[in-house]
Amino acid sequence: MTTMLPRTELEQDAFCQESSELFSKPLIEEYEIDVQWQKIPQRYARLDPKLIEERIWQIKEQLGSKLTILAHHYQRDEVFQFADGTGDSYKLSKYAAQQTSEYIVFCGVHFMAETADILTTDNQKVILPNLLAGCSMADMADISDVEDAWTDITNLLDDTLIPITYMNSTAAIKALCGRNNGIVCTSSNADKAFKWAFNRGNKIIFLPDQHLGRNTAYQLGIKDDDIIVWNPFKQLGGNTEQAVRNAKVILWQGHCSVHTRFTVEQINNTRNNYPTVNVIAHPECTSDVVSAADYVGSTEFIINTIANAEEGTIWAVGTEISLVNRLAKTNPDKQVVCLDSIVCPCATMYRIHPAYVLWTLEGILFNNPVNVINVSREDKEAAKVALDRMLSLEVIDD
Ligand code: 13P
Ligand code: SF4
Repeated sequence: MTTMLPRTELEQDAFCQESSELFSKPLIEEYEIDVQWQKIPQRYARLDPKLIEERIWQIKEQLGSKLTILAHHYQRDEVFQFADGTGDSYKLSKYAAQQTSEYIVFCGVHFMAETADILTTDNQKVILPNLLAGCSMADMADISDVEDAWTDITNLLDDTLIPITYMNSTAAIKALCGRNNGIVCTSSNADKAFKWAFNRGNKIIFLPDQHLGRNTAYQLGIKDDDIIVWNPFKQLGGNTEQAVRNAKVILWQGHCSVHTRFTVEQINNTRNNYPTVNVIAHPECTSDVVSAADYVGSTEFIINTIANAEEGTIWAVGTEISLVNRLAKTNPDKQVVCLDSIVCPCATMYRIHPAYVLWTLEGILFNNPVNVINVSREDKEAAKVALDRMLSLEVIDD
């Protein structure tokens, strides 16, 4: 059997279009895009985005310090503008841990809101405006498949296996890592997490993004001979017992449907069109793209590198289009283009339409909060152990 793709992956191309600008339309028009949307009261469907915007600013004012809105860099501009804190997944998890407001409306995807729920107190409520804003990569690692793999591998080995999960995974998987001496990482600290893990064991299983895992392993000098990929739909992940015993790094067979769109051919074409271009890519891209790029790093790294670059420089970016468009606007002294000429926002991030934000804010205002994220106490405690290990990585020397 080949890999079964989650629904979120199959829906990824639904928002792809030719134009480089993305504008929010009334929800009723966006509903025509062939993906599943969370049902919300009909009255929001026809609201004009301008009216929604005014109403959100009013409610934000009324709720004052009771409310914090956090937004990931891949959010649409029409949502991003309301954020009290913005960042990549790492920065947002740190923000969430520092907040004292009663409500945190998390404009991002499901695993990010779960992380915020884990890192905040029991008196705080984390709200995800659209519950169908999942993440196709996180959906590729189902906890029961991961538990099966863990049992299969540990039954076979005498070595100490350390689990590392990328932030882009469910709370249940973070909890599995917490319970088994493992750690969470993001794209900005995956190398530190690998070093941390190899100080404690001689084998790593990395979930769920095979590309970030492979790129990090290569960065640390680990060769292909020491790396295997685990396909959850095959016996022993599609490997022989010997291969599992020999491997230093076991990569879960997951990927990001946004970042794996970028290709070396796009890089070559861009270099032909703009001979002085700087190519910068996210480490969720495939390893051939990463090695063909001039710079590689997390979302926050990409933003800072372009912001600090010299005037007049040209940048081709391999990451999510809402961020690339924003970088082009906020760096008018440079030329910023996307590596991919087809515009494909992350289909799950894009499901946070302003109407959903308004719906959740009105819920808070009228004491009837909706879409509150509730990670079970058991998973919260175990996942927090793995997250706290990650948050302490920055004070650990390389
Ligand atoms: P970072 O926010 O860690 O750069 O990850 C990118 C991403 O794909 C988030 O879903
Ligand atoms: Fe998931 Fe990729 Fe979208 Fe990030 S960009 S939320 S990893 S699908």
